Amino acid sequence: MQEITLIRPEHFAEVHTIEELCFSEPWSERSLGLLCEGENFGIAALVDGRVAAYGGMTCVLDEGSVTNIATHPDFRRRGLASAVLSAMLCEAEKRGIENIFLEVRASNDAARDMYLKAGFCELGVRRGFYRHPTEDAIQMAYRKN
Ligand SMILES: CC(C)(COP(=O)(O)OP(=O)(O)OC[C@H]1O[C@@H](n2cnc3c(N)ncnc32)[C@H](O)[C@@H]1OP(=O)(O)O)[C@@H](O)C(=O)NCCC(=O)NCCS
Repeated sequence: MQEITLIRPEHFAEVHTIEELCFSEPWSERSLGLLCEGENFGIAALVDGRVAAYGGMTCVLDEGSVTNIATHPDFRRRGLASAVLSAMLCEAEKRGIENIFLEVRASNDAARDMYLKAGFCELGVRRGFYRHPTEDAIQMAYRKN
């Protein structure tokens, strides 16, 4: 059974496991607490009650910034990240967030394609933005309409 829900502290351990599987510089369980602070939020896709994909957004006034989106390697290509992203855009709209930004590794064709399909556009390149390995970021933006 699949469910889309706001991330709560009890999800942090499973989210952290996915972080470690997906990123060279994973967020610690403690840093994930940021997603439950202030106006920030995270969305998780649960499969049979366990986190299979998630995404986070930090929010200041009417601006949102996507932190990470990732799907556990065992659950990829099933539409889970798209479902998480779509739920994040809905939640942002409910919270009055009008402009959403993100950075993505230039070589990450899968994620770039996913964001373009969700309605993001590419704004430009931030040279040497990432470490481990060093790589440029593509900055993307989403504006409703
Ligand atoms: C990128 C990522 C989040 C996609 O997760 P997913 O749940 O498999 O994605 P979905 O099934 O919802 O696919 C959404 C779209 O992304 C693109 N996509 C996803 N995986 C892809 C792949 N291996 N190759 C090419 N395009 C891909 C496609 O456009 C896909 O749409 P489609 O199914 O209509 O072709 C996942 O591969 C991942 O966790 N990667 C590691 C972490 C990461 O790079 N996160 C993004 C940077 S913040």
